[in-house]
Amino acid sequence: MELLATERLSLRQLEVGDAPIVCAYRSDPDVARHQSWSAPYPLRAAEALVQEMLHRRPSDPGWTQIGIELKATGELIGDVAFERRDAREAAVGYTLAPAHWGNGYATEAVGAVVDHGLDVLGHGVIVAEVLPENAASIGVLTRLGFERDGTTATGEDRYVKRRV
Ligand SMILES: CC(C)(COP(=O)(O)OP(=O)(O)OC[C@H]1O[C@@H](n2cnc3c(N)ncnc32)[C@H](O)[C@@H]1OP(=O)(O)O)[C@@H](O)C(=O)NCCC(=O)NCCS
Repeated sequence: MELLATERLSLRQLEVGDAPIVCAYRSDPDVARHQSWSAPYPLRAAEALVQEMLHRRPSDPGWTQIGIELKATGELIGDVAFERRDAREAAVGYTLAPAHWGNGYATEAVGAVVDHGLDVLGHGVIVAEVLPENAASIGVLTRLGFERDGTTATGEDRYVKRRV
């Protein structure tokens, strides 16, 4: 089911058939190095993740992984994770398959999720927590108007965006 659309992307629920693609991009060492999992990421873990996401909506508490589909080819190229933390705060995370880096797809997808999240939260805040050496991720946040707002207890840089 499509949740949001942008010029080049369809942001949709993950589907059972996506598991091998999620497994492949999560297993890339250049992806896993900045994320909470290690490579290789098992296919059974990808299957369990996709199954869990079939029953979730981004407004539910906890993390929801939203698939990023390239409209031109129908290919799943990554996901945006959205965590509704409380009535005033949500968080985002994101992953693109490396073959699709450098095209602005992450900025386009995360931007759509953040805009929608800010609409839902009203005067709330969207947060992203990033390792300080993750320049590509900080680039996404900077392009979207996030501002640095300190460091987390685990040493990640915390970035925030509010509706202006
Ligand atoms: C973080 C991540 C999604 C960023 O991917 P990305 O491809 O660099 O980001 P975008 O899709 O927004 O593309 C931006 C790049 O495309 C270029 N670009 C091309 N067309 C563009 C367009 N229409 N709009 C914006 N940027 C465009 C930009 O100049 C930029 O290139 P640069 O890095 O050489 O300056 C990717 O590196 C990734 O998946 N990393 C592993 C997982 C990870 O670290 N996740 C974040 C954890 S906090």
